[in-house]
Amino acid sequence: MSARSFNFNAGPAAMPVPVLETLQRDLLDYQGRGLSVLEMSHRGVDFTEIADKAESDLRALLAIPENYKVLFMQGGASSQFALTVQNLDVAGKVAFANTGYWSRKASAVAALTSNVSEVTQVSLQPQITVPPVDQWLGAQGASYLHITDNETIDGVQLDELPEDNAEVPLVVDMSSSILSRPIDVSRYGVIYAGAQKNIGPAGITVVIIRDDLLERSEQCNTMAPVFNYAAMQKAGSMLNTPPTFAWYAAGVVFQWLIDEGGLGAIAERNRQQAERVYSAIDRHDIYTNTVHLKNRSIMNVPFQLADDNLQSGFLEGCKKRHLIGLKGHKSIGGLRASLYNGVTDEAVNALVEYLDDFALNPTS
Ligand SMILES: Cc1ncc(COP(=O)(O)O)c(C=O)c1O
Repeated sequence: MSARSFNFNAGPAAMPVPVLETLQRDLLDYQGRGLSVLEMSHRGVDFTEIADKAESDLRALLAIPENYKVLFMQGGASSQFALTVQNLDVAGKVAFANTGYWSRKASAVAALTSNVSEVTQVSLQPQITVPPVDQWLGAQGASYLHITDNETIDGVQLDELPEDNAEVPLVVDMSSSILSRPIDVSRYGVIYAGAQKNIGPAGITVVIIRDDLLERSEQCNTMAPVFNYAAMQKAGSMLNTPPTFAWYAAGVVFQWLIDEGGLGAIAERNRQQAERVYSAIDRHDIYTNTVHLKNRSIMNVPFQLADDNLQSGFLEGCKKRHLIGLKGHKSIGGLRASLYNGVTDEAVNALVEYLDDFALNPTS
């Protein structure tokens, strides 16, 4: 096998090598059962064990309280943009914090069927900043307030949370930050996340939902049962054939996170890695990151070069050093390093070394 690249992709993202090795080992013969997980019935004893363990490990990692249920769904985070509305909007009004690309996408989907109240908008000047939550206005009467914990494209992370209250519960898109640090699940009504960053391979979507909202979704039952939270929960997320391999792989990632010392240890590593990359960007005039310090994302570091003409040379140099996934999202251009849990210190060393070298000798 050729040497593995240093992967800074925004998603699908770098997977921890020990996880890939376990998947490889189990691919032909899962723990001596004589078949692959790919071939197992989702209703059989072996897969039931896999699914149950994945859920209990996720519960342990995030300290999920008993009055929350965990669903393993399909359709990615984008499908949750619609399903949250269909399952939870009883008032005909939902509130959104507009903090970047993905919250705007989510609110545009909600606006197809509901009235959307925008409670805040990220300021772009002089730096990209999320206004303090006590200035957010207009959530009253909404079925919920939707927030995006980490804006993957803009590199903007929320630095504070509005109160979750019974009248306007918080629904959070945590696709690009889940499992990157410990969180207090009880602050949210619903947490959802596509898998392909910190959970595992694409194909599965985790939804963590508080019991009262699950009950609410029972009243909103005009959609197919596979899209209904209450119906899915009753069926153990198996109303239809689930993406079994992605579910199993997520479980292997959860076990790896536990083996690594849990989310406290992971958060510290993520913090140090991000600090090193931001420091490299800040110490050279050739790079800029325009996000206010308080909202800089630990998971996604977008940056620009002083001269756009240098970008192709920068990316060529990346290729030579096996650094991949650094091109920014097409909507905003520039560059971006995603530092998900699977990114190693060795990869960050290689990136920081390159950032330093390129700054001294930029080639267009
Ligand atoms: C914060 C956030 N929300 C939603 C999405 C969309 O996810 P999916 O591709 O799983 O629909 C992404 C994808 O990168 C994301 O980063």
